[in-house]
Amino acid sequence: MDKLRIGVIGVCGRGGIANSWRDSDRAVIVGGADVYEQALADFRERMGEQVFTTLDYRELLDRSDVDAIAVTSPDFMHEEHAVAALQAGKHVFCEKPLAISTAGCDTILRTWKASGKKLMVGFNMRYMNIFRVMKEIIESGTIGEVKAAWCRHFVGHGCNFYYQDWHATIAGSNSLLLQKGSHDIDMIHWLTGQYTKRVAAFGGLDFFGGDKPNDLRCDACDEADTCFEYSENRRNQCAFRQEVEVEDNNVMVMELDGGIKASYLQCHFTPDYHRNYTIIGTEGRLENSEPEMKVWVKMRRAHSWKELADRTYNIRPAMGGHGGADPVITNDFLDMVLEGKEPLATPVAGRMSVAAGCAGADSMRSGGAVQQVPEIDW
Ligand SMILES: NC(=O)c1ccc[n+]([C@@H]2O[C@H](COP(=O)([O-])OP(=O)(O)OC[C@H]3O[C@@H](n4cnc5c(N)ncnc54)[C@H](O)[C@@H]3O)[C@@H](O)[C@H]2O)c1
Repeated sequence: MDKLRIGVIGVCGRGGIANSWRDSDRAVIVGGADVYEQALADFRERMGEQVFTTLDYRELLDRSDVDAIAVTSPDFMHEEHAVAALQAGKHVFCEKPLAISTAGCDTILRTWKASGKKLMVGFNMRYMNIFRVMKEIIESGTIGEVKAAWCRHFVGHGCNFYYQDWHATIAGSNSLLLQKGSHDIDMIHWLTGQYTKRVAAFGGLDFFGGDKPNDLRCDACDEADTCFEYSENRRNQCAFRQEVEVEDNNVMVMELDGGIKASYLQCHFTPDYHRNYTIIGTEGRLENSEPEMKVWVKMRRAHSWKELADRTYNIRPAMGGHGGADPVITNDFLDMVLEGKEPLATPVAGRMSVAAGCAGADSMRSGGAVQQVPEIDW
């Protein structure tokens, strides 16, 4: 195969990741499907008028000049789109979360195995320099055997990203523990090298939601001048509307394989954006600050030469979307399909983070009861 011929389902928003394939000499964007004609018109403008576009994704899947599909539609469509694409004999890049239920992920995994095609998930954080540095430090043995992990995620743009469109309903995303949290839980899994076995969580809708009508949009709102959450962009449903139901304040504790203990806080009404991970091993502690682009290693005072070895890493982002991760993850997809390389962002990892997030959602919606993460139903 000379160039991988890629079709995109869900062409705007995250569909913009297709620009990286467009700009690659190993891929060509041949088509796109969306439910909005305007989105398809924008796509044709970006990709060229020769590109095939359709309002029915099945027409895209029927085409023999499409080798692979990028599923960049909203979460609640991933299962349908990924399964249909694999069944149509296409390789699939599926954005995170893999699906909005554990059973949905398992259906995708079974379809993937039966299809003989390649599948990967859009965990672009695995490709960010700052987290690659952390992974390398852990793998070098510097902090010893990993025993504990911590992530606190202040989602400073939580309102506009998650409360002003489909993300805010259970039918749309299930829970932000597996929507936003899909990345964070995966980072905990990837950095520690272990998957979650069981969880307990508490959460609430403590800030957003309310009694505004479901069809209220910012541009038609009487309170537009005074509302802090006023939005001028495409996501502009009122964040205080009645249908809003996913928790905006989530705390989860997790036990991972190997007895690793982890905790995760995700809050959507913080003023600042800050995502911070700590990994503690038997010999040291590793921590990052995303805004400062720093990683610190603190060593235990063990009466050895390591006492003097606390260190700070200053990370430079690469060029391109998401701190340079998007061009790298799209390249990894090409390596997977064209060269047979195992991708960094595996489907099983995609499933395990959703399964942990779903177990967390079940726990916080049942008074914090401990929930086991089920084995994959192959
Ligand atoms: N890995 C990352 O860093 C990252 C970043 C952003 C978004 N995402 C993921 O990408 C996905 C899309 O997110 P978004 O914010 O772009 O969403 P969005 O609401 O902007 O939708 C993306 C596109 O899908 C189209 N669409 C909507 N319903 C559709 C349907 N039924 N069939 C086909 N197309 C449909 C929309 O018109 C739009 O063009 C989500 O699953 C999200 O989690 C991942």
